[in-house]
Amino acid sequence: MKPWETVEKEDVPEVGEVVLARRDSEYVLRVRGQTLMSSRQHGSEAAMADAGCAHLVGTQKARVLVGGLGFGFTVRAVLDRLEPSARVVVAELLPSVVTWNRGILAPLAKAPLEDSRVTVVEGDVGRLMRKQSGAFDAILLDVDNGPSALTHPDNESLYDITGVSVAYGALRPKGTLVVWSAGPSPAFVKRLEDVGFTVQVLKPAAHGTKGPRHTLFVAQRIGKGPASVPSREGKRPGRGR
Ligand SMILES: C[S@@+](CC[C@H](N)C(=O)[O-])C[C@H]1O[C@@H](n2cnc3c(N)ncnc32)[C@H](O)[C@@H]1O
Repeated sequence: MKPWETVEKEDVPEVGEVVLARRDSEYVLRVRGQTLMSSRQHGSEAAMADAGCAHLVGTQKARVLVGGLGFGFTVRAVLDRLEPSARVVVAELLPSVVTWNRGILAPLAKAPLEDSRVTVVEGDVGRLMRKQSGAFDAILLDVDNGPSALTHPDNESLYDITGVSVAYGALRPKGTLVVWSAGPSPAFVKRLEDVGFTVQVLKPAAHGTKGPRHTLFVAQRIGKGPASVPSREGKRPGRGR
């Protein structure tokens, strides 16, 4: 089999080595040697957009947050489901991923960053959610391989009780949070329910209709009040950035 060719490589402080590699027409993104994304497997990205935006079809001025960017498949799928008056905020931790999406990777998902509905914020999606109370109709999080398979140690605070409360607070009432994962996590489902979400777990195919399946946690914010934080878990510190 043909070897992978490194297209871009850089050392990012506090993250480590980030590599963009290509074999024929397939690209992979690796962080510290771990594959974060392959351009061949993006069936669950479309399923994420379906789950997060189903309630927004035909809605004017819908506001959606996507974190992170990766190869832009989720952003593209979200844009394809929303009206021209919608706004999509994309939070991406690695500036180079944004640069590559504006250049060499742009054709993979039909250049979603060129859509005038999109605003890109370079930085941590958790930090952005903390600053945006009741702002989004949907939040789609695909930043790790799941709540317990982190690509960045700081990302733990996206999935703990404080993190899911922050996501709850950043949503409008009836808003939907979708979290991508490589596999199931009953503990994460429980945590989502504990703060007040109603949760559904989907298992879309990674590619086409057969083969491996990914997991999507689809959580709907019901009430207008704040997230309920169970005292048993207590308040844990945020990531302090
Ligand atoms: C698996 S990829 C996302 C794939 C994406 N769904 C797509 O359609 O290609 C994960 C992305 O999340 C970014 N990321 C990781 N942690 C993040 C964080 N805390 N905030 C924002 N982006 C983050 C990574 O740099 C990477 O670009």
